[in-house]
Amino acid sequence: MKRTIKLLAAGSLLAASALYGASTAACVGCHGANFEKKAMGKSKVVKDMSKADIIAALKGYKAGTYGGAMKGIMAGQAKSLSDADIAAIADSIKGGAAAAVPAAAAPKVIDINAKVADPNRIAKEDLGNKKEVDETVLGLRKTSLFSEDNVEPAKVKEDRPAPGAAPRFERAYVNAPPMIPHSVEGLLPITKDNNQCLSCHMPDVAKGVGATPIPPSHFIDYRPTTVYKNGELVKEGKVVGLKGDIGNVGDIKLAKKKKLNHLYAGRYNCSQCHAPQANVKTAVANTFKPDGLTGEFKTKSNLVNMIDDGVK
Ligand code: HEC
Ligand code: HEC
Ligand code: HEC
Repeated sequence: MKRTIKLLAAGSLLAASALYGASTAACVGCHGANFEKKAMGKSKVVKDMSKADIIAALKGYKAGTYGGAMKGIMAGQAKSLSDADIAAIADSIKGGAAAAVPAAAAPKVIDINAKVADPNRIAKEDLGNKKEVDETVLGLRKTSLFSEDNVEPAKVKEDRPAPGAAPRFERAYVNAPPMIPHSVEGLLPITKDNNQCLSCHMPDVAKGVGATPIPPSHFIDYRPTTVYKNGELVKEGKVVGLKGDIGNVGDIKLAKKKKLNHLYAGRYNCSQCHAPQANVKTAVANTFKPDGLTGEFKTKSNLVNMIDDGVK
């Protein structure tokens, strides 16, 4: 298994360094597929700028020496671009290569259970009725479990459309974190200094770029206030551990919700819960059918209103 993981990691590093900077996939949500829009109503129409001006602007955003009121957004975009990346981007904007990105189609929600009965998936095998079972049939890969010399990781096709052109996926269950429907090329990994998800999904900008706003639940701290005082662990003002009687965290039925005027730090690493999607042939079909996923719930969440349901 170790070998497979290493292979995958090396593969994605290669892809990232080859493709990352020079791609305009991350730009189209704001600037339009052909850089024909005023991003967020504020920028110049970039396709009408000269190549030299585009290069100067991008270098300036990176250095902090160029821009208007919203230059912070572009600083985040330009930060990781090398001079060569910037030149390649300017080339592709003026040469029209960016037009390869399809224009937004009418939004359609993808039914994630549509193909559960795909016959290409491994059929259920009744191993219990066999006299002898050799180890090559035990794993899902149907190869020896003792040697991985000829094992290749499943082929993954990273072909999601750019932000702004991706049909959303139906939610997997009521209030599931929605899957990321668009390409994440150039957007991951999220780091302390670079979280581009915020530049499109924060509620004040989301509408302008056609993205789903980050919901109110992500601006609330639901965790109990926890302090360590005089050798005791105190949660929500109640001693729950260490010195004296060992209490029980379960005694805290419901922590007070703390509404914040900023994103809760526990939500910063978006891709911890929201997963990018790729086209992979899965060995086993997922036949999970959620309860109550009807109407609005297929495309919207309302966790903030129902998180206390059933709690006394
Ligand atoms: C989240 C939305 C967003 C994304 C994504 C984005 N931009 Fe921008 N861009 C803006 C905004 C807003 C401005 C105007 C900023 C300012 O006030 O200076 C701008 C300005 C620019 C300018 C200078 C235009 C001017 O008004 O002087 C260029 C060139 C540019 N962007 C290129 C890009 C490229 C290339 C990418 C992708 C690598 C990209 N942008 C991604 C929002 C975005
Ligand atoms: C350039 C703007 C932009 C950036 C950057 C961006 N998104 Fe999006 N996102 C969108 C748009 C627009 C949509 C709506 C689907 C579409 O039109 O492609 C969307 C849809 C989504 C959805 C689906 C919401 C739903 O209602 O089903 C999730 C989840 C998501 N994005 C997460 C992320 C995460 C996580 C990141 C950072 C890794 C990110 N996005 C970066 C623009 C952006
Ligand atoms: C700890 C897990 C977690 C993290 C981290 C997280 N989310 Fe979510 N997200 C959820 C869950 C669960 C839901 C659905 C229930 C809800 O609304 O809270 C959701 C819902 C959403 C929705 C759909 C809102 C709607 O109205 O339907 C968007 C958009 C979104 N998240 C964006 C983000 C972005 C962007 C980040 C990073 C800044 C992020 N999330 C970080 C778990 C997470």
